[in-house]
Amino acid sequence: MEKISISGGKPLFGKIRVSGSKNSSLPILSCSLLTDKKLTIKGVPKLTDTFFFLELLSSLGVNISNINKSLRSQKLILQAKNIVNNKAPYDLVKKMRASILVLGPLLARTGKAIVSLPGGCAIGTRPVDIHLKSLEKLGAVVSIEDGYIYASAPKGLRGNKIVFPKISVGATANTLMASVLAKGITEIVNPAKEPEIIDLGNCLKSMGAKIDGLGTNKIVIQGVSSLKESAYHVMYDRIETGTYALATAITGGEIELLGAKKEFLNSFLNVLESIGIKYFVTDKSIIFKRNSNILYPVEVTTEPYPGFPTDLQAQLMAVMSIANGVSLITENIFENRFMHVPELIRMGANIKLKGNLAIVEGVKKLKGAEVMATDLRASVSLILAGLAAEEETNIGRVYHIYRGYQNIVENLRQCGAMIKRIKI
Ligand code: UD1
Repeated sequence: MEKISISGGKPLFGKIRVSGSKNSSLPILSCSLLTDKKLTIKGVPKLTDTFFFLELLSSLGVNISNINKSLRSQKLILQAKNIVNNKAPYDLVKKMRASILVLGPLLARTGKAIVSLPGGCAIGTRPVDIHLKSLEKLGAVVSIEDGYIYASAPKGLRGNKIVFPKISVGATANTLMASVLAKGITEIVNPAKEPEIIDLGNCLKSMGAKIDGLGTNKIVIQGVSSLKESAYHVMYDRIETGTYALATAITGGEIELLGAKKEFLNSFLNVLESIGIKYFVTDKSIIFKRNSNILYPVEVTTEPYPGFPTDLQAQLMAVMSIANGVSLITENIFENRFMHVPELIRMGANIKLKGNLAIVEGVKKLKGAEVMATDLRASVSLILAGLAAEEETNIGRVYHIYRGYQNIVENLRQCGAMIKRIKI
């Protein structure tokens, strides 16, 4: 077990190389289940989430060679010559909800998939009804027994028109992966437009899938009978980028994020500018800088892309807890994504909750405290708060942070933060 200890108050200066996207990597790794050919994937971040996912893929029959053991990212060659097992067991799925992303590809490739229901998590109940209804529209027979999803399509999947009742990133990914091997044409109406979905679609296209309309209100897929060998580089992690940009906002200073691109960050950058942070785009990076002592309050609502991402809501709230005025932050994606609020209050923040609205009245200073990480993004918001707080902050249950942030302690330390891991 570990905790993270931070002595706050130092502005950050330096450079950090942004990792490959976690949320792109997981579905893209899943694409290896769709073919018996090799799929080479570059830029996979070294995270506990990607590690668990590889463990799951390997249990299904994917052979994985790790040919680049560099610290930053992995180049992996995956090949599922044969699917040896159609079942994703509870033990693996409970470690990571994204395991549901093997459902569509397994079903499309073998006509059968058994995947444990992921269950709820700290940020909400997180149902998978849209995933299942979409697979049924493609001709699968789906039932739930003893906590497991049983999906079968012995004669293969058939293209159809699927209208999503609400936008879901995971259901879009599962349906897209399943439909590339379905017979005929599939239309996904009201899909997620997240950059990570476009990245997944581009990877599938590089494997020979026929997909149009990525990033629009309708994705059209013309099914193919098989996919071919391919190599693909996952996009940069826009949430990691936003997190380090907000670390600069809360501490002051200047950080260059190497590998970050303005593309896909527009709504975030608008918010960042409105709170008083400057940014400069170069051909290889974005530089973030806080000039003045004043942070301006904001009104922000989380929305599906291209809106402000829910995955940056907790980090923004930590910054707004020391802004010069009252911020209003509405969480529209998950029903319970305010687990960081009581912890920030322990550090001196003044935040009131009214349903899905957080009213954040900026205070002059936060104060270090003993706090507890509850989920991935909530945990990192506590790191940000600790970087700005007076005295020492100790964060427990930090394994949540390592699910999504590669080398975060080392990255922040090299920019001058007084942060360390402590074995307990
Ligand atoms: C993905 C991201 C997560 C991000 C989220 C929203 C990955 C691995 N995770 O999660 O980091 O916070 O998108 O941008 O990419 N819903 C249903 N029924 C369904 C599916 C979803 O009601 O079948 C609801 C969810 O409970 C939630 C909303 O739809 O309220 C959006 O969820 P979804 O977009 O599916 O999130 P994930 O794919 O789980």
